[in-house]
Amino acid sequence: MKMKTSSAIVSNDLKALSKKLRREFDIVANDIHSPQRFQWDWWHLPGRYTHLRTPAATFFTDELHEELATALIAYGRKHLGCQNISPMWLSNYVEGCEQRLHADRPHGPWAFVLSLAPEKRNFQGGETMILRPEILSLWNQTTVAGKSFEEEDIVERIPAAFGRLIVFDPRLPHGVSRVSGTMDARQGRLVVHGWFTQPQPFVEGPLSTKAANQSLLAFDEVMGSELQDGVQSTGTLAYRMEIDRKGTTRKVTTLASSLTSANVEQTNREKRRLLAVVKKHFIGWKFPGAKKPSSLTLSLSIGN
Ligand SMILES: [Fe+2]
Repeated sequence: MKMKTSSAIVSNDLKALSKKLRREFDIVANDIHSPQRFQWDWWHLPGRYTHLRTPAATFFTDELHEELATALIAYGRKHLGCQNISPMWLSNYVEGCEQRLHADRPHGPWAFVLSLAPEKRNFQGGETMILRPEILSLWNQTTVAGKSFEEEDIVERIPAAFGRLIVFDPRLPHGVSRVSGTMDARQGRLVVHGWFTQPQPFVEGPLSTKAANQSLLAFDEVMGSELQDGVQSTGTLAYRMEIDRKGTTRKVTTLASSLTSANVEQTNREKRRLLAVVKKHFIGWKFPGAKKPSSLTLSLSIGN
């Protein structure tokens, strides 16, 4: 069996919150006289998008919308090194709805889709589709010589399971497979979606912003000299530095990476090289001591 590459980060961290969101949707959807029902836009651009959509901020109560935004921002800070999110959409896909393959540029370094579709899905399709990096090696003899080829070899399909959060690089061609099987909005592929934005340094703990900024300024210089010959891949990488009470960086972890190029081996080499530069700088850097440990999350945008 061929190993296929996944470009998506999949999480169930927001499942409990998804139940609250679904409850608010159901209250409106089950009340045939609710004024909230009149706000849906039939978003139909032939050959591109067909679905119902509405701003999440106007559909959900302020409290729940705030809770959702806070949870997503916390997720972005922890896992992606992004400080904020774009305004969110609530979309619903019933019979015939779809999104054809497209890329979102420059909405933000990461896109997200949170599924609020019913636990028991009665529709077919509605998967998030993302083009796999294997498309880049289509003409490699090892890929095509004498081997069968199916769509799944180049397109990843992730079902809209309830409470599932999908995060992916929106520069990759992606879409939503055509939904069939229901005309009932309560049975449709209901999703909240948007983009993580503002890749900026983020400190958790007592480490002062001034001390963090000094290390980051020096790091810019290191990056300039270490990478004089350039990096061929482009994308966003997030790292977390764990700093102990004495101000020593104990651990550097890569959180998420969308670094990519037409040459997979070269991208892997460049990822290793960037991590080595980050480790060398921050592990050698002396931060001021503090009463408690801190962590510094850094997001690097390469060639974007
Ligand atoms: Fe998109």
